[in-house]
Amino acid sequence: MAEITTPLPAAGGVSSHASGERASGATASRFEVFSYDDRIVRYFVVATTIWGFVGMLVGLLLAIQLPFPGANLGEYLSFGRLRPLHTNAVIFAFAGNAIFAAIYYSTQRLCKARMFSDTMSKIHFWGWQAIIVSAAITLPLGITTSKEYAELEWPIDIAIAVVWVVFAVNFFGTLWHRREKHMYVALWFYIATIVTVAVLHIGNSLAFPVSLTKSYPIYKGVQDALVQWWYGHNAVAFFLTTPFLGLMYYFLPKAAERPVFSYRLSIVHFWSLVFIYIWAGPHHLNYTAVPEWAATLGMVFSVMLWMPSWGGMINGLFTLRGAWHKLRDSVVLKMFVVGITFYGMATFEGPLLSIKTVNALSHYTDWNIAHVHSGALGWNGFMTFGMIYWLVPRLWRTPLWSQKLANAHFWIGTIGILLYVIAMYASGVTQGLMWRAFDQAGRLVYPDFTETVVQVIPMYWVRMIGGSLYLLGVVLMMVNVWKTVRRAPKELPDPAVAVPRQRLAEA
Ligand code: HEM
Ligand code: HEM
Repeated sequence: MAEITTPLPAAGGVSSHASGERASGATASRFEVFSYDDRIVRYFVVATTIWGFVGMLVGLLLAIQLPFPGANLGEYLSFGRLRPLHTNAVIFAFAGNAIFAAIYYSTQRLCKARMFSDTMSKIHFWGWQAIIVSAAITLPLGITTSKEYAELEWPIDIAIAVVWVVFAVNFFGTLWHRREKHMYVALWFYIATIVTVAVLHIGNSLAFPVSLTKSYPIYKGVQDALVQWWYGHNAVAFFLTTPFLGLMYYFLPKAAERPVFSYRLSIVHFWSLVFIYIWAGPHHLNYTAVPEWAATLGMVFSVMLWMPSWGGMINGLFTLRGAWHKLRDSVVLKMFVVGITFYGMATFEGPLLSIKTVNALSHYTDWNIAHVHSGALGWNGFMTFGMIYWLVPRLWRTPLWSQKLANAHFWIGTIGILLYVIAMYASGVTQGLMWRAFDQAGRLVYPDFTETVVQVIPMYWVRMIGGSLYLLGVVLMMVNVWKTVRRAPKELPDPAVAVPRQRLAEA
């Protein structure tokens, strides 16, 4: 435990701000004193920014390679090798480190307890970074299971399972030792994330290894496809949605200094979301060998998902009631509002895409890419940036180096997303309509696939500009974080906290 550097509150309250006073013996006996591990949160924040930059740089290279095939720089840096590197880097390295930062910071505060084990926190952090590095080496080498978002081969899969279990034990250990009886809704979203990701990862990765770098799944044909998209869809649900909702429920009320709009709504939409999401996977397999009824079931559950998803969006936006004026001066709130709005749009669009007649037009086209990136860049990206701008001054106890630069990031990033997704919607609908255009004799009007490719190239240029702007925003954030950290005090002791013993006895 760290030395107490916190002024103890007079009654009832808990302080998490370190400052020069020492607790007197008498006061300390009325309080239980402990500290939070913020060092590990700082590690995860730094990792988020670095991997975010790397993953999106690879995304930008992909965006350049599509209209300019000459940018495929040899076998290892070709589109086919780099695409899974991009998806793994942005989902598991960028979004992954971001949700770990959110979970480690907020769980300790919500439980009024330090993380269960500092050693486990470190194993989690370094283990996860080692996994990312092994993905960055093996994927360009072409070592892959070829299952989307689960491309990593079995030795890395085992490492993921082990590190995840360490994370789970550390998290549930903290819950077990918590000093706050009530479990705030953010914690429920984290529990859903940790339990379900473990089940999905282990379930989908079961394979027969034939060498160190090659394995074959234990599932065959349609079964394999169903398990894969049960996993794939729920990776979106439990890696890109539930932890970010938990993050929203913790950081948004903090930044807005308002209680959450409706606690009841948060509980209702939590349970309905986790129950419905798990069934929606077959919407990725419309018009395939999957039985008709299974695809229809997936579609029905996807349409039902609209409501609990919007429950989260509404609860987020309405939390700002009476606080909208704060947006003018708060880049954190601006980021959160745009992030939550994109969540609303992506989760309105998702159910729409799952409807078979719409899917007949959208599937295999860039409409999917637009949908993915409105969720990824808008929801996951902006929620992460908002959290980083909120956390960095607190974690390094130094005001943000430049609010102006952060505002520039917000506007450049927003324009970047709009250019990216509008271009991809235009491209997707163009592709879909051209592929299904028939003349009066029933022949395809565009039998030559390259005709559609040529048609969408201008949209790819616009996406390239949008992606560059978005990445430029990330660079501005990195500069801002770096300059802030440089000005921070050399010593950053863990913040000490005091909880009245009386209150603990009541809990
Ligand atoms: C500068 C930012 C980014 C750029 C320029 C970019 C670009 C791209 C490109 C060109 C593709 C391939 C599209 C295709 O195959 O036609 C792609 C795929 C993908 N990207 Fe990004 N991306 C960016 C950020 C992100 C972020 C932050 C995330 C997630 C958090 C993300 C998630 C994905 C996913 C999941 C796919 C695969 C989509 C699918 O298979 O349907 N991207 N990205
Ligand atoms: C109510 C919520 C949602 C539903 C019902 C939904 C539904 C869908 C559907 C129907 C597809 C197209 C499948 C295909 O034609 O192949 C799709 C693709 C996708 N969605 Fe969503 N979506 C939702 C929310 C989100 C969010 C919030 C994100 C990101 C944060 C996201 C990420 C993705 C990704 C990555 C894909 C591409 C999968 C692939 O590689 O083929 N979705 N979604």
